[in-house]
Amino acid sequence: MNKKIKNILSKKNKSKIICLTAYSKNFAEEIDKHADIALVGDSLGSVLYDYNTTRKVTLSNMIEHSKSVRKGIKKSLMVVDMPYQTYRNKNEAYKNAKKIIIETKCDAVKLEGCNKIKNIIAYLIKKKIPVMGHLGLLPQSVKGKFVSKGKTEREKKKLLNESKILERLGVFAIVLECIRSDVAKLITNSISIPTIGIGSSVNCDGQVLVTDDLLGLNKTNIKFVKKFINLKKNINQGVIKFKREVLTKKFPSKKYSY
Ligand code: KIV
Repeated sequence: MNKKIKNILSKKNKSKIICLTAYSKNFAEEIDKHADIALVGDSLGSVLYDYNTTRKVTLSNMIEHSKSVRKGIKKSLMVVDMPYQTYRNKNEAYKNAKKIIIETKCDAVKLEGCNKIKNIIAYLIKKKIPVMGHLGLLPQSVKGKFVSKGKTEREKKKLLNESKILERLGVFAIVLECIRSDVAKLITNSISIPTIGIGSSVNCDGQVLVTDDLLGLNKTNIKFVKKFINLKKNINQGVIKFKREVLTKKFPSKKYSY
């Protein structure tokens, strides 16, 4: 087993797992210093391209961004999302997962869902492709409003059952998105692999956020997003200083000229 995956598995019930999204090298370099997992999420569709759905993200979008991210990652596990309609059957999934892994040199891929793609996940794992699962709110399947999951007894049972199936299939961790706190706790305590929460409470083994969100770069009012810093303000200050010095001919001074 990949050493980095082993390390992530060993953190269950010991220390929290840190996962953050990265879409390019400069961000990846900083994330790599602190995170266990760097995720090239298909959220890049909404964050970078203003798409209203991750369904518009293509395989080549993911591969190009991942190639850039790879240059910034040394120690963390690099996971790449398989975009919409790139894993409709096991042969398509294997062909595309292999392409992602060969071209980007990532460590693993992430697929959304369980029941409809059980045989696909099983096939990838049989072919030695490490897979991360994703349950709860599945952005590639959302048509309309984003709502939290696990509110009804039926949903709770389904989520618990799916997490056990994913564990049995051999995924090394599961992202739990927008799942009610008590259900996230139940799932986390019922399986031996780590759960990585996003909007699913402190009861998960780790947490993931979209990096642009936590840095305050993204306009969003999603309940689970905490803005840990307002980087937009810092960018503005830098740009204003540059503009001021250009207008007043202070920049470029002799020091910055040939
Ligand atoms: O696409 C993404 O960035 C994700 C995470 C938010 C879990 O799937």
